[in-house]
Amino acid sequence: MRIALASPIDGAAIARLREHHDVVRAFDDPGSLPIAIADREVLVFRSGVAVTAELLEAAPELRLLVRAGSGLDNLDMDAVRERGIGLVRIPEPGAQAVAELTFAFMLALSRNLLAADRSMREARWAKFELEGSLLLGKTLGIVGLGTIGTRVATMGLAWGMRTVGCVRNATPERERDLMRTGIALLPFEDVVAEADHLCLHVPRTEETLRLIDAGVIARMKRGSYLINLARGGVVDEDALRSALETGHLAGAALDVHGSEADGERSPLADLPNVILTPHIGAMATDAQRMIGERVVEIIDEHAASPHPLEATR
Ligand code: MLT
Repeated sequence: MRIALASPIDGAAIARLREHHDVVRAFDDPGSLPIAIADREVLVFRSGVAVTAELLEAAPELRLLVRAGSGLDNLDMDAVRERGIGLVRIPEPGAQAVAELTFAFMLALSRNLLAADRSMREARWAKFELEGSLLLGKTLGIVGLGTIGTRVATMGLAWGMRTVGCVRNATPERERDLMRTGIALLPFEDVVAEADHLCLHVPRTEETLRLIDAGVIARMKRGSYLINLARGGVVDEDALRSALETGHLAGAALDVHGSEADGERSPLADLPNVILTPHIGAMATDAQRMIGERVVEIIDEHAASPHPLEATR
């Protein structure tokens, strides 16, 4: 098949694709994407690439979109449905990586790891300034109990945390399954108000844009932490800044940002009680290897039996 890679994927997967397919690495020169996809049948993409109706128009032969990950906020679903282009997501391996990073953030925040590291580099033995707190017995609040949120919840329970969460439009069976694992399902407002660590795992949609605004942050517990590995735009960064400056929130960790452009500094970058990372949630080598293997399988299966795939959300 004629494939365009709009984003980098695992190198071994690219090599395997090349054995049987014609592969263009459009991510080497992102500006060239509209030209590179002119004769392509398959587009593989990750976050950071806007797959708009206009871009899809530049690819009249496109039959299959492979989302090498989870989020679909960068894809024009109406255009995909209208064109009847197949769409396959690969959410699982990245979900584990994001869930593990969520825990890394909770531990780093509650044990002052960044400040501890900085003090050592400055040759300061700050042991008695750096007392943190346990996760054990704390309330973990999770907004969004999809593939990632559920994994975070299961980890929280294993760490002895009281785990509360909210999810929209869950079927009664899904709610029962979640409660059986020990997660307490509460309304959004209660999750926000009760959490010591509030973790966001929702997709970016019209409903979740600025979901965590000044009013919501004001209702968070004094001294609690906010952790966002969902999408930039879900948190009002100005409101978060104020809450961190006044000490209403003890800290925050953000892997996703209002702007994710290279060369742009986060408006929170000068605050000491914030951890900022460049959307590395799914960037674990083993997770990327598994995603790459699935990309190859999906494309090979499609090449062998090119039945139209339903565009799903
Ligand atoms: C995802 O939605 O899977 C993540 O944003 C990871 C990525 O695309 O890099």
